[in-house]
Amino acid sequence: MTTNLNLMEKTSAIFLFLFVGTFVTIFQVSDATETSNAIFIFGDSTADVGTNSFLPMTKIRADFPHNGIDFLNSRATGRFSNGFNSADFLSKLMGRQRSPQPYLFLLKAGLTNRMFSGVNFASGASGLLDVTGKELNIVSMSDQIKQFETVCSNLTLLKGQDVAKNILAKSMIAISVGSNDIFGYFENRSTVDPLVFIGSLMSAYECHINALYKLGARKFGIISVPPIGCCPSQRIYNSTGGCLEIENTFARAFHSSLDALLKKLTSKLSGLKYSLGNSYEMTINVINHPQLFNFKSVDTACCGEGLLNAEKTCTPQAKLCSDRDTYLFWDLYHPTQYASELAATTLYNGGPQFVTPINFAQLAAY
Ligand SMILES: *[C@@H]1O[C@H](CO)[C@@H](O)[C@H](O)[C@H]1NC(C)=O
Ligand SMILES: *[C@@H]1O[C@H](CO)[C@@H](O)[C@H](O)[C@H]1NC(C)=O
Ligand SMILES: *[C@@H]1O[C@H](CO)[C@@H](O)[C@H](O)[C@H]1NC(C)=O
Repeated sequence: MTTNLNLMEKTSAIFLFLFVGTFVTIFQVSDATETSNAIFIFGDSTADVGTNSFLPMTKIRADFPHNGIDFLNSRATGRFSNGFNSADFLSKLMGRQRSPQPYLFLLKAGLTNRMFSGVNFASGASGLLDVTGKELNIVSMSDQIKQFETVCSNLTLLKGQDVAKNILAKSMIAISVGSNDIFGYFENRSTVDPLVFIGSLMSAYECHINALYKLGARKFGIISVPPIGCCPSQRIYNSTGGCLEIENTFARAFHSSLDALLKKLTSKLSGLKYSLGNSYEMTINVINHPQLFNFKSVDTACCGEGLLNAEKTCTPQAKLCSDRDTYLFWDLYHPTQYASELAATTLYNGGPQFVTPINFAQLAAY
């Protein structure tokens, strides 16, 4: 009975913030379109909207079916999703149609001026550490920031220092990264002490934020690591099909260390504002109460092959589920479009259980 009661309380809390959120959103959207602040997105495949499709040397890509099956015209855009991803939904909540285009797309198309309103630099398989994904020929976080530096220099050149500074300070910097570093630790069977390893990820994060701050960025929307041990790709190594608990322990440690780091940086870097999304809490909440969110499957990939559809990636030959909005996972690693929308809505409008010290809507409004 007690647990049922707790569950009910949690439920009403969730619905409450969803309702409150709806009203907040309406005002946010009109705000955002009026001022149309720029959005710059960094990170890994959770936010990649096609960067890797411009990298001929990488195999980490999603520019083929069944990816994109629910996108406009069922187009495979390079997103690791059946449709939009969280970067798209966050951008939508900020008054746009979808995520800004990948840097490499805008560069190739010669659309340098369009970069000033937003760019997506995220590249699948990247991590906080330069070594993460290095042999996969993706764009590391350090290189994503170098690309951003080019955009900043052009902006300054064209608009002058003062205007550029003002534009950058108002821009939303969204970062979703960290999972691939932790996967790398386990794939490598690293013997580095876990606390030392998490510490090295925090040093890397601090360097990246410092670099972005130096370039003029002030508003950071940061998305931490979800319970990566619960990805179908990891569950197949647990004979019960349950989550790999050790990896989830790392994800929780990552979040609490990042929380501490951001508090420290706020006192060191004047004018810095941030919002930290607790992807762990958001996702585990869905996994523990799937029925509240109308999920029928939170352990199996919609697209894939073998055990939990997680022994192979999503390809044109893979099995594909029909009721995609009832799956948490699109492929062995990534959420479905519906799950990504849920995540973005929570980041944007959620309460302190999921996003601290303010939510992304409050950050955007600064
Ligand atoms: C402006 O951008 C182009 C690429 O779009 C880059 O090659 C060039 O170096 C940039 N200019 C400056 C001053 O950074
Ligand atoms: C994993 O091991 C490879 C090969 O030794 C190394 O190059 C790479 O840096 C390691 N990755 C991580 C994340 O430690
Ligand atoms: C496997 O999953 C079960 C729950 O089904 C959990 O209790 C157990 O700790 C997991 N094993 C590992 C190695 O993480």
